[in-house]
Amino acid sequence: MQKLKKLIIKVIEITQSTVRPLFIASPFLSRLYYLLFDRAFGYEQQAILKAKIQYETRQGMQDNSSSLLRRNIHRIEKGLIMRPRKDVFALDYIEETVSVYSRAAKVEHLDHADLVWAYSVLQQFFTVCDLKHPTIKASFEIFQAVKFQSDATSVPYLSSERVAHDISSEQLKALCKSRRSVRWFEQKKVDKSLLIEALTISTEAPSACNRQAFEFMWIDDEETKREAVELPGGTAGFASQIPCLLAVIGDLSAYPFERDRHVIYIDASLASMQFMLACETLGLSTCVLNWPELHTLDKRAAKLLNLPQHKRIIMFIAVGYALADGGIPFSNKKKAATLLTYVETKKRD
Ligand SMILES: Cc1cc2nc3c(=O)[nH]c(=O)nc-3n(C[C@H](O)[C@H](O)[C@H](O)COP(=O)(O)O)c2cc1C
Repeated sequence: MQKLKKLIIKVIEITQSTVRPLFIASPFLSRLYYLLFDRAFGYEQQAILKAKIQYETRQGMQDNSSSLLRRNIHRIEKGLIMRPRKDVFALDYIEETVSVYSRAAKVEHLDHADLVWAYSVLQQFFTVCDLKHPTIKASFEIFQAVKFQSDATSVPYLSSERVAHDISSEQLKALCKSRRSVRWFEQKKVDKSLLIEALTISTEAPSACNRQAFEFMWIDDEETKREAVELPGGTAGFASQIPCLLAVIGDLSAYPFERDRHVIYIDASLASMQFMLACETLGLSTCVLNWPELHTLDKRAAKLLNLPQHKRIIMFIAVGYALADGGIPFSNKKKAATLLTYVETKKRD
């Protein structure tokens, strides 16, 4: 029976690799290939569809923030710093912005600082824009009806006013060289305050339209952690002694369009990198644990961590105090000069 199963799998594999070249001629054929022969994208596509519906139903609101509000306020800030600044801008989204602002202001648990930021930026927008324009005038009336606390520091500022730092490139290089994936930890709990501090630093990372649609789920419960830590494939041998486990999770419901489906991976990874460097400065070490795109694993993790399908695991991160005599792989790094590539110069007629 086992032999027959193996034989069938082998035949399927050979058939697939034989027909594969026939399906690369167009995106349509490639879609057909996956429809006929491979279910790899099915669960992810279902997640994207569910997320889209969730976005539409909740009109761009998530649990305690609004991705639509954050995106649109960000766009207005970009308009405010434009050189030269226009008297009239944001016409195609200012009504949507004041509408989502007034809805968000009524949501009890919405992040207060987000609302202060939104109110302050909108206030500046209506101060500098031409209120005689009918669209801006109509939006101003909606905006005026929902007063909030304004803050002079939550609006665009000059580059020369940025927070100063005295970190040299040598210091940063040392920090980056010191950060290594650590797999052997002291059996000591990680304090929540340290995680919060590292996350505070991680939130300074860039994100697409400043939406920051991700979270770091601390799997604090010992039993859940024991199960969760075995889910990513790459923890064999060291899973049981990971003191603190985080799941980095992206929220697809922050985006109405399929074109943004990769943003959660980009944004969360940028924040994760800052988180890991911040951990180093706090005496903590980390190791990223891979999360392959397998619907079987996704389903198990979703059940264990109580995640709706639109919330996607991006990676797990092990955190703890490095064991002094724990080994570290050398992990040769590529040379910068080999990473810097150039577009081949095209001959122009
Ligand atoms: C996306 C990603 C997935 C990873 N998955 C694992 C993993 O499952 N298990 C593991 O031991 N290390 C994992 N790592 C750590 C890498 O092996 C490590 O970053 C790499 O070998 C370079 O070593 P360094 O982090 O010490 O510089 C992962 C790293 C990344 C970025």
